[in-house]
Amino acid sequence: MATKTQAAALFLCLLISASSATAYSRKTRRPRTPCRELTFFFHDVLFNGHNHDNATAVIVGSPQWGNKTAMAKPYNFGDLMVFDDPITLDNNFHGTPVGRAQGMYFYDQWSIYGSWVGFSFLFNSTEYVGTLNFAGANPLMNKTRDISVIGGTGDFFMARGVATLTCDAFEGDVYFRLRVDIKLYEC
Ligand SMILES: *[C@@H]1O[C@H](CO)[C@@H](O)[C@H](O)[C@H]1NC(C)=O
Ligand SMILES: *[C@@H]1O[C@H](CO)[C@@H](O)[C@H](O)[C@H]1NC(C)=O
Ligand SMILES: *[C@@H]1O[C@H](CO)[C@@H](O)[C@H](O)[C@H]1NC(C)=O
Ligand SMILES: *[C@@H]1O[C@H](CO)[C@@H](O)[C@H](O)[C@H]1NC(C)=O
Repeated sequence: MATKTQAAALFLCLLISASSATAYSRKTRRPRTPCRELTFFFHDVLFNGHNHDNATAVIVGSPQWGNKTAMAKPYNFGDLMVFDDPITLDNNFHGTPVGRAQGMYFYDQWSIYGSWVGFSFLFNSTEYVGTLNFAGANPLMNKTRDISVIGGTGDFFMARGVATLTCDAFEGDVYFRLRVDIKLYEC
């Protein structure tokens, strides 16, 4: 039974060896230089039926054969999660948060771990005030995943770019930490 929450924690966080994506040729890709680069960490504690006070992510929808405390099989397919995670500038869970990562992800691949994510970073700190908004496919079997930065407000007014997600830690059954390297090409 180790496995239900463990499976749950696999969300964005499979620690995969190097099964990285095929490099297909992009003949016409223009070299571009980011106008701003930022790195954040966010911390996800999955609700497992016993950690209500500490959890930052919950299953809100599951397929008919699933429930709200254990991820569905296979591959969490059909589970919809909502989260409200602290964002920190380094990898310390207990560091002072600079904002919250809030949104959802759902598993949309039957035959492998993969999800689609849509969330915002909400900042209201001395460092940053404003939001950054993210969306995209999150193919978990890839060691790093690029998703789109589709907009922003405040200090990030009209921002656009790409965010690279990396699993930075996977501890115990319910906690994982994601590193987010953001490159903005419109600032
Ligand atoms: C919440 O986390 C604290 C500190 O890690 C721990 O002592 C406590 O047992 C946890 N509570 C639950 C309900 O998991
Ligand atoms: C949820 O499903 C898991 C795995 O099938 C099962 O072990 C657990 O008891 C279920 N929990 C509830 C609250 O039904
Ligand atoms: C941001 O922080 C300031 C100062 O603490 C507070 O007055 C304001 O209501 C906060 N805004 C939001 C949107 O949380
Ligand atoms: C998969 O990883 C490779 C290298 O780690 C990266 O170049 C590629 O953009 C990634 N694919 C996605 C969809 O994120």
